[in-house]
Amino acid sequence: MTTSLVENTDPATLLAWYVAMGADEAIEGETVDRFKSEPVQTAATAPQSRPTSASHSSTLTPQPSHSVAGPRKVEARPVQAVVGAGQAAAESAAAACQTLDELEEALKAFDGGLLKRSAKNTVFSDGTRGAPLMIVGEAPGAEEDRVGKPFVGASGQLLDRMLAAAGMSRDKNVYISNVVPWRPLGNRTPDQAVITMCLPFIRRHIELAEPKFVLMLGGVSAKALLNTEEGITRLRGRMKELDLGGRKIAAMPAYHPAYLLRQPHLKSFAWRDLLAVKRTLASL
Ligand code: URA
Repeated sequence: MTTSLVENTDPATLLAWYVAMGADEAIEGETVDRFKSEPVQTAATAPQSRPTSASHSSTLTPQPSHSVAGPRKVEARPVQAVVGAGQAAAESAAAACQTLDELEEALKAFDGGLLKRSAKNTVFSDGTRGAPLMIVGEAPGAEEDRVGKPFVGASGQLLDRMLAAAGMSRDKNVYISNVVPWRPLGNRTPDQAVITMCLPFIRRHIELAEPKFVLMLGGVSAKALLNTEEGITRLRGRMKELDLGGRKIAAMPAYHPAYLLRQPHLKSFAWRDLLAVKRTLASL
């Protein structure tokens, strides 16, 4: 949109247009007029210190009537360190909690660094406390961040439909959380530093929730909780055990519903895995 159009358009209409174009974040408080950015100097536009006959003749050749900025080289910024209290502080804060409520309060009080500062909510959990099945996903998305509950967006709706088809629901017998409780900006995969920092909290969360079975959704969750580098394609559907606070808890990795939305042909694997979870739960 050109500057004059922006200036002459009703702000509500403009906002609706930005949303329709896919903008979901206000990144900077100040607007930036990109049309005023400095044109890049090229050999053709750079001032010549000593006019030569060749440069003189070039002024006679037709030049573009406007300065074309052309592509601007953007230097990648180094990954910013997580300015949080770190893993050691997370370990002691999580270990000090004796109940889920205390853990939720501790997470809300914890300095989760840049990630927490950019998030609207600390997304702790949803579903039935004390349920036999605990589901652990990756991190909240935009909708979860807004509402403050895990898996309430498109992938959560698919998850709910799959659970319902298997006779389960978060209202009845499923408890849900994530490895990372704060939304990574732009729905990026969380950095390893962030995952490492959050790990003591989700491990303590599982200990205090005392499920009989943990279903890890997606590679981030499975790799973090199983402390492995193996990918989800190899891990999914395999029965595992989590060793938490001296207690062993049956667990299994499965495809993340967001991945199933992009790869619907894999839903049959997810369905098979969910039925295996149900069978195992019945035998525990
Ligand atoms: N994806 C996740 O892993 N967790 C959520 O809560 C939502 C989307």
